[in-house]
Amino acid sequence: MRKKIVAGNWKMNTTVAEGVALAKALVEAQNGVPADVQLIIAPPFTHLVPVGEIIRGSRIALGAQNCANHTSGAYTGEVAVPMIAGVGCQYVILGHSERRQYYGETSALLVEKIRLALEGGLRPIFCVGENLDQRNAGRHFDVVGSQVREVLFELTAEEASKCVVAYEPVWAIGTGVTATAEQAQEIHAFIRGELAKHFGKALSDDMTILYGGSCKPSNAKELFACPDIDGGLIGGAALKAPDFIAIAQSY
Ligand code: PGA
Repeated sequence: MRKKIVAGNWKMNTTVAEGVALAKALVEAQNGVPADVQLIIAPPFTHLVPVGEIIRGSRIALGAQNCANHTSGAYTGEVAVPMIAGVGCQYVILGHSERRQYYGETSALLVEKIRLALEGGLRPIFCVGENLDQRNAGRHFDVVGSQVREVLFELTAEEASKCVVAYEPVWAIGTGVTATAEQAQEIHAFIRGELAKHFGKALSDDMTILYGGSCKPSNAKELFACPDIDGGLIGGAALKAPDFIAIAQSY
């Protein structure tokens, strides 16, 4: 049985004090979420220790939003997997479209990061998704297929089985425009099919594939009802505890 996950990507938002308050509100509200839904929050690096303390012993797991492609050394400004894992993170978001777009992250770099994350005991939440021009040109399957193949197909089956995939159409991220349930479902099914071809059906059936992009309480139910959508990677709505919890209650 694949895991249902609702993960909050806080991006570069909140001060530490605001983040701690948000984490406290989430812990207070967590019991309203079905027991089989794994909650994850990924605050900025500066928040990991204090937020980690707040959520310790709760149902909420801690994630980072990125990691370095080296384990230590002279890489000013970078944060390595052992540092992230050492403060209690279990997950790391990798390949988010904002990292690809603004920081030039390539598939080759993402393979390095995913390998290090896995070696360090973290579960990568690997993001894929097409932009608006690619969608309008009807190239979304090609683009997403390449992103999946160039990174996940470089891994062994055992490594891949520890990854979570997040499909996030770039045109839906932070725009208020959500992919329709049909649009999301068809890409999720496509991703699962690609994984099945390469790794076999058993592995692909067990793979958690999240939807991200303007997911909110008003549309989560319809999205999560789709057979190949196993939860959400939530940006804006993850910054409001009632919205994040309402999304997680949408199963
Ligand atoms: P959004 O962001 O929910 O604000 O659209 C999702 C994401 O980028 O992970």
